[in-house]
Amino acid sequence: MPRYTSYPTAPHFSAKIGADDYREWLGGLTGGERVSLYLHVPFCHQLCWYCGCNTTVTRNPGRIDRYAGYLMRELDLVAAALPVRPVLSHLHWGGGTPTTLGNRQLTDLMKRVQEVFTFEADAEIAIEIDPRTFDGRDIGALAGAGFNRVSIGVQTFDPQVQEAINRVQDFACVERAVAGLRGAGIDNISMDLLYGLPHQSVDNLRTTVADVLELRPARISLFGYAHLPARILHQRMIDTNALAGPAERVAQFEAVHDALVDAGYIAIGLDHFALPGDAMAVAWRTGTLRRNFQGYTTDLADALIGIGASSIGSLPRGYVQNHVRTDHWRAAIDDGRLPVARGIALDPQMRLDRAIIEAIMCGGRVDLDRLSKDFGMPVQAAEPRPGAMKRLFELGIARREGASIEVNEECRPLLRVVAAAFDRFLDPDEARHAAAL
Ligand SMILES: C[S@@+](CC[C@H](N)C(=O)[O-])C[C@H]1O[C@@H](n2cnc3c(N)ncnc32)[C@H](O)[C@@H]1O
Ligand code: SF4
Repeated sequence: MPRYTSYPTAPHFSAKIGADDYREWLGGLTGGERVSLYLHVPFCHQLCWYCGCNTTVTRNPGRIDRYAGYLMRELDLVAAALPVRPVLSHLHWGGGTPTTLGNRQLTDLMKRVQEVFTFEADAEIAIEIDPRTFDGRDIGALAGAGFNRVSIGVQTFDPQVQEAINRVQDFACVERAVAGLRGAGIDNISMDLLYGLPHQSVDNLRTTVADVLELRPARISLFGYAHLPARILHQRMIDTNALAGPAERVAQFEAVHDALVDAGYIAIGLDHFALPGDAMAVAWRTGTLRRNFQGYTTDLADALIGIGASSIGSLPRGYVQNHVRTDHWRAAIDDGRLPVARGIALDPQMRLDRAIIEAIMCGGRVDLDRLSKDFGMPVQAAEPRPGAMKRLFELGIARREGASIEVNEECRPLLRVVAAAFDRFLDPDEARHAAAL
């Protein structure tokens, strides 16, 4: 079942869309749009066996240096295609582990970003860090470069689970990173946690949550481990017999959910938690939460520009994705081309379906009448796929009154299944799976 971090989802992008389309789409930006920027760094110092991200292990400074140089050149290519100097509301560095770039490279790239874009006064400038490879010097560099939100990969604090996933990191190293960041004035701290990992149990998850609560991050993402060893070869290092079954996974999610809610966190959408004063909790309360490739976001941008191998961009006219292989990505840049490999142009039906799916994923409800009017489409165009909602209504997962559809509060973990009823690209097998619920 797709995570609906875009619609249509990435598997439906095709090579029919390429660099020329992207250049034209960037050229269509008028300066009135809110724009955000994503930079991808596909390197880590060590591989976590569970990892499903686009990353490679390297400690070779030459290789990382070369990549940083190409990021700079891709920024130049984008700058040349832009007719205006966009105003940035959000900048996100993701990976992999973006801090594998040296502090000098990070600072130089940030300078170049500032030359191409104007930052909104309260722009969010965020980066993902791995606490095992992060020290005091990095904190100074991040604060100096203007970062104001840091997302820390925690996953689990249980030693047996950590061994089984090849990611040993003690509490003290996370505590040091948090204290250092707060000391440097970076208070907006997020943490990633996982459930469904080998040897994870309700009990050891409760202990992990108790440790996390000592550090009280403003935001927590709680992802279910996606085990796809047929496609992600290093996941074969994980002992399938040590993985929880579906009922145990639900119990694990609920245990963490309840512990966080009891501790004062607001449960947001499918998999996020935030303290009441955090921008994401505010967006959830006020109905302005959005969804992009990082999952839930407070970013209201109309256009997202992606830089780096595999990065996805979302422009008013469609989506584009850069070459995933760094050698292909570099070759395109060497040729002076925007390094786009595939994409999809949006038609009016896709725009409407995208808005419906986003409303369900971000708020659990949708007014089909209002959205069809907003998009200048006939009201029938907003109807779900024929028969797709029948079982969901029968089971009380969602209800419909007139043109309004609402997901039952207790069924929030099933938001994706309800959203899928509006996904006209859904693979017949997945559609059958959703209908068979
Ligand atoms: C790019 S990493 C975070 C930054 C840094 N590389 C680190 O791990 O500390 C993004 C997040 O994706 C999540 N993730 C990775 N592989 C996953 C999988 N197979 N299933 C679910 N979530 C996964 C993890 O929670 C991870 O923190
Ligand atoms: S989880 Fe983070 S540190 Fe671990 S391999 Fe994936 S991207 Fe790298």
